[in-house]
Amino acid sequence: MPRIFSGIQPSGELHIGNYLGAIKNWVALQAQYESIFSVVDLHAITVTYTPEDLRRRTREMAISLLAAGVDPQQCALFVQSAVPEHAELQWIFNTVTPLGELERQTQFKDKASRQEQVMAGILNYPVLQAADILLYLADRVPVGEDQVQHLELSRVIARNWNSRFAPADQPYFPEPQPQLTPTRRIVGLDGSAKMSKSLNNTIGLLETPDEMWAKLRPAVTDPARVKKSDPGSPDNCAVVFGLHKAFSTQETVAEVETKCRGAAWGCVDCKKALFEHMNAELTPIRSRAQALAEQPRLVDDALESGAEKARTIARQTMAHVKEQMGLA
Ligand code: TRP
Repeated sequence: MPRIFSGIQPSGELHIGNYLGAIKNWVALQAQYESIFSVVDLHAITVTYTPEDLRRRTREMAISLLAAGVDPQQCALFVQSAVPEHAELQWIFNTVTPLGELERQTQFKDKASRQEQVMAGILNYPVLQAADILLYLADRVPVGEDQVQHLELSRVIARNWNSRFAPADQPYFPEPQPQLTPTRRIVGLDGSAKMSKSLNNTIGLLETPDEMWAKLRPAVTDPARVKKSDPGSPDNCAVVFGLHKAFSTQETVAEVETKCRGAAWGCVDCKKALFEHMNAELTPIRSRAQALAEQPRLVDDALESGAEKARTIARQTMAHVKEQMGLA
């Protein structure tokens, strides 16, 4: 079975954008691939944070992932800092990473431009990401578009290490390729291009039905529809129609098409139908999350068994890397 690796930052509870755009894909892939998934807390410390908050967010993310269907029997799910080899390999990779490549990264330029004093961790962030992936010799990485440049850099790092320390005809590290998520980008509730926690336009995966409805009800719809009797156009309703396509059955999606265009449904009717379908999918996830929150041992055990599987592979990789490099 080919091996995949992916990571997610410990932002706390998942929102439905993360869920539809990434995690549902992880859940589908874990049956087809040997899957290694990590909550990447070492990446999260490149921005200002408080230790208690990081601990809480890491825990919540692990619970959200498990509740969403990431199955510790089928994959390895662990917290990055529990496997010290990530940091060890990233140091080694720093020695084969051209500085110019790091400075070119759009995410680096973006983050650095918003800070007075830029710490080296922001610059080296993609080196740690390369270590995450290559530690497991993973060649496919399920991610969104925004990670494509980071993966290009992972390939440069793999190639550079191989050309110095592996026989020419026997490259050791594979060159990882992005496996882009099939779901289209989930638009924010306010209609802005991306659903993002920092834009405050998300619905949390574990929010109660009341909280969810309070956010859905005022969500942006086709601006041309002022009155209920105005015919609408689902194509101009990226938020609500987009969510219908993600959560509702094909029949409901077809029904929305006709009833919106024919003004038989107002936007609130359409949102109510969406709300029903969202609840059908999210209610079991919420109850699993609740059960996990009440049984912390289950979460600890899942993460520990994931870390153990990860460490076994990580140790083998590091032993080989060190051997080839004349280290210990
Ligand atoms: N940088 C990724 C993000 O912000 C998270 C990440 C860290 C990751 N290490 C990874 C993703 C390795 C894929 C593979 O979304």
